[in-house]
Amino acid sequence: MQTFNATPTGTIALQTITMPADTNPFGDIFGGWVMAQMDLAGAIHANEVSQGRVTTVAVGSMVFMRPVPVGAIISCYTSTLRIGNTSIRVKVEVWIKDFLTHQIIQVTQGEYVYVALDEQGHKRPVLNNPSISV
Ligand SMILES: CC(C)(COP(=O)(O)OP(=O)(O)OC[C@H]1O[C@@H](n2cnc3c(N)ncnc32)[C@H](O)[C@@H]1OP(=O)(O)O)[C@@H](O)C(=O)NCCC(=O)NCCS
Repeated sequence: MQTFNATPTGTIALQTITMPADTNPFGDIFGGWVMAQMDLAGAIHANEVSQGRVTTVAVGSMVFMRPVPVGAIISCYTSTLRIGNTSIRVKVEVWIKDFLTHQIIQVTQGEYVYVALDEQGHKRPVLNNPSISV
């Protein structure tokens, strides 16, 4: 039994339109494509939080609530769940908007974990950066 949110949590990190090239054999959008958009949105969020390069270290709690049709406007909403020493856990919700009515419904949510990296690609502390306020 899935619980559906009435309104999105967080802010829009990424928006796009679903295309026929991204469908599964049954004509709906392939779940792996949706997860890739969510990863991009979460990375944009984590980049803002950490003020620098990040990499995905883990994905958890993925829930696919409804199929995603072709031609939908999808919006990935992101919010910070936890900031650790070097990691940021981001909640990503995907909502689709009807082209004509502009009604929005949630289709997917998941938690993505990113690790902050320095210029050499080594993990770095998130909170030791004085420019970051959380
Ligand atoms: C990300 C990476 C640099 C981390 O290096 P590491 O030495 O393994 O780091 P650690 O084990 O100390 O973990 C770093 C942080 O990630 C967290 N973490 C690691 N694995 C995790 C997991 N499975 N779930 C949740 N958090 C995890 C740790 O808790 C830690 O958080 P904290 O510092 O805030 O306490 C390294 O694992 C890596 O390069 N992975 C490949 C990343 C990649 O290529 N991603 C793209 C995939 S296509």
